[in-house]
Amino acid sequence: MLFGRVKPLDAILATAKKKSLERTLGALQLTLFGIGAVIGTGIFVLTSEGAQKAGPGLMLAFAIAGLICIVAALCYAEIASMIPVAGSAYTYTYATMGELLAWTVGWALVLEYAVAASAVSVGWSGYFVGTLRELAGIDLPIWLTAGPVALGGAPGGFINLPAVFIAGVITWLLMIGTTESARVNAILVVIKVVALTTFIVLTLPSEEFDTGRFNPFLPAGVFGGFGTGLGAVGAAAIIFFAYVGFDSVSTAAEETKNPQRNVPIGLIGSLLFCTVFYILVAAGAIGTIGGQPIMGPNGIPFPAGSAELARQCALPQYADWLVCSNEALAHVLRQIGYSTIGNMLGLAAFIALPSVILILLYGQTRIFFVMSRDGLLPEGLSKIHPKWKTPYVVTLMTGCVVAFAAAFLPVGRLAEIANTGTLYAFLMVALAVLLLRVRDPQRPRAFRVPGVWFVAPAAMFGCAFLFFNLPASAMLVFPVWGAVGLLIYFGYSRSRSHLGRGIVEVVDDIEGRETMLPIDAPGAAER
Ligand code: ALA
Repeated sequence: MLFGRVKPLDAILATAKKKSLERTLGALQLTLFGIGAVIGTGIFVLTSEGAQKAGPGLMLAFAIAGLICIVAALCYAEIASMIPVAGSAYTYTYATMGELLAWTVGWALVLEYAVAASAVSVGWSGYFVGTLRELAGIDLPIWLTAGPVALGGAPGGFINLPAVFIAGVITWLLMIGTTESARVNAILVVIKVVALTTFIVLTLPSEEFDTGRFNPFLPAGVFGGFGTGLGAVGAAAIIFFAYVGFDSVSTAAEETKNPQRNVPIGLIGSLLFCTVFYILVAAGAIGTIGGQPIMGPNGIPFPAGSAELARQCALPQYADWLVCSNEALAHVLRQIGYSTIGNMLGLAAFIALPSVILILLYGQTRIFFVMSRDGLLPEGLSKIHPKWKTPYVVTLMTGCVVAFAAAFLPVGRLAEIANTGTLYAFLMVALAVLLLRVRDPQRPRAFRVPGVWFVAPAAMFGCAFLFFNLPASAMLVFPVWGAVGLLIYFGYSRSRSHLGRGIVEVVDDIEGRETMLPIDAPGAAER
């Protein structure tokens, strides 16, 4: 049966029990963990692209995307409290909807993690170039710092070397076994939050702040038209990227004290915090230097990240516009006379963004690792380095792909593609929550979504809604990527799957602690 291979939940839980990690994390640590994973390129860089799509309506976009993430996060909180293992959405789907759909989720998570890591690398590159220019007076040539115009990069661009460099460094750190300690994370969170707070404090009460700049509030409307990615909801669909990463909180459920209380607080707390901050930052940027889009001859904004827009931005009259900046927030502060603080903010992004890349790349290697140990990807991928004790093969391969994409593609396109996979994974998690409520109502859940029959469908609808408001080019990548995935599944993975061969093997950590259960283990019934 095509959808019959369902991994028994009991086997998954047996592993989780066996691992029995110490419960040390509290609500505050979880919230900090979430904020550390979430604040990154989305707010520091994509603010410009969001403004080009929605104008001042970018604030509304942050609210829409934040709300959808909050209902999705509630679903994550319930399922993570039930199935507290790594592999997250992929594992949840394996246990509820079977191997085929789990494969599609695992495959989509490549977009969430690997492509998002490329996007953050390109975002970092913008701040790197700006910091070098402002602090050291070194202006790197455009052909070394942007992808080619044919792929949506800047005119004269060829390769984004700083992005390749940072992706390479992070890959190397992961290969030799670096993980970010809670202390380093806390320091980086403080740096990011101080940078954003400073931005808000300097912009909102500033003399430059003029409410007139919010008029027109929605120059491209609420809905900019199907496939255009414009308008407030089009901006929400790209700016959703600014919230990606909160799901990493759910994977820490097993190490959390009183998860019933603390996991939802961590998830919702970090998201609420970021939503409020993002809206205030957007208000500060738009109120001080303006955030109107550059309009094309037909009265419709030029597509964000397009060659046409890049050409407009090269004209002197637009050079200082928010929508043209690669380092939006630092640019705003420099424009309103705080050059030194703007440079410091640039430096903060320069220091803190690599940790977001690290979290994303780590997540990707972990998903590949679990899929390979399930037999769905070649076993060689999960080979562990004898000295470093890391899955170095899969890390190196992933790092190369991330660096390659970062070399040639612009940040906005990468973020949109990453969003397609993330939205699909979130939708499947919400569906899994509902299925488990129906099929397995008695199983203990440390956290139960209140009003689940409203919240989970709302999350599913919200994710589908954002997906269909992405530009057509991004929407198209998803089915093409999915088709490649299905070819691999039916050509390779299905016949090699451990579950298909009668072995229920649940591995979710690198040291290889695992359980092997026969296929007739309790709960292994084919559904
Ligand atoms: N939310 C993360 C960022 O904006 C991925 O960089």
